Amino acid sequence: MAEPLRVAVVGCGGIGKTHLDRWRKIETAQLVGVSDVDEERARATGLPAFTEHERLLDEVRPEAVDICTPPAFHAPVALAAIERGIPVISEKPLARNPDEARGMVEAARSRGVPLMTAFCHRFHEPNMLAAQLIREGRLGRIVQFRNRFGARLVRIADIWSSKAEIAGGGVLIDTSIHSVDLFRFFLGEVRQVLALCQTFNPNLKGVEDTAMMLLEAESGAQGVIESSWNTPWSRNTVELYGEGGAAIVDYDAGELRYRLEGDADWQRPELGKMDRFERELRHFVRAVRGEEPLQVTGEDGLRAVEIVYQAYGR
Ligand SMILES: NC(=O)c1ccc[n+]([C@@H]2O[C@H](COP(=O)([O-])OP(=O)(O)OC[C@H]3O[C@@H](n4cnc5c(N)ncnc54)[C@H](O)[C@@H]3O)[C@@H](O)[C@H]2O)c1
Repeated sequence: MAEPLRVAVVGCGGIGKTHLDRWRKIETAQLVGVSDVDEERARATGLPAFTEHERLLDEVRPEAVDICTPPAFHAPVALAAIERGIPVISEKPLARNPDEARGMVEAARSRGVPLMTAFCHRFHEPNMLAAQLIREGRLGRIVQFRNRFGARLVRIADIWSSKAEIAGGGVLIDTSIHSVDLFRFFLGEVRQVLALCQTFNPNLKGVEDTAMMLLEAESGAQGVIESSWNTPWSRNTVELYGEGGAAIVDYDAGELRYRLEGDADWQRPELGKMDRFERELRHFVRAVRGEEPLQVTGEDGLRAVEIVYQAYGR
């Protein structure tokens, strides 16, 4: 068996801790170091810890880097890794704006370095099974897509996610970016997008906390995307409606249910135990090793940022 891939993580906050936990379960990878501008956080991982990502890259010489910082730092960290020929997986959104994201994609392309966008929902098993139903033609031609991700984030005004200069925007670029990618995953390229953005939380300045998007795929299929930071008990679902049946990915119930035309009832396939983060990182390792093509590229990350910017009217 090949030696484990030597992986470093940059950013040890919320999602960084989730990734570190999943990396520890992956026998094909070995964590070799972390960096975080917050030294305590980096040290708390128990791994070789740095406060500057360049020193991490030069001293530890990882074979891959997992970027889990806020969006404003994705591009500088990714460019530093790509310059050194080190493959990158970067959290979403790939960057704060299309220019930054394009810079990352072009650097990776010109150096021939793998760049993956961490769109974890593509690795959520119910979404993968729904995509398989579409590929096999069992849902027929897909006519409509509907997706809602919502929550009530009471402290949102105090954190970077609501600061446009760090995040690139509000709930649309933070949360609906996943939805835009899911739309493209299921239905193909987007040819038209419209959006409504609103700010209900009086403590937020210059970013939307609630948004709706209307999308049209090149196939003519239509989509509605909803998101809000202001809605307790929000449902979190992806709904796919085809001429041959419907598939509902219900995050709250943790299931996929689908019903094809003529079926007497909804079917609920049995699911495995592995979560989307572990599946995503395992795939990244195989892709870096050349064992399979990247399923989510830097280009996918760039395209999602471009579509969000079009929705913002920028
Ligand atoms: N895929 C998902 O489901 C998902 C979920 C949550 C967050 N995210 C994304 O992950 C990223 C991080 O979000 P979070 O919620 O973990 O944020 P967080 O604030 O909890 O953690 C970010 C960490 O990065 C560190 N940091 C900041 N600048 C840095 C730099 N230049 N170098 C090294 N470390 C730096 C901070 O000190 C902090 O520890 C964001 O892009 C966010 O959109 C993705």
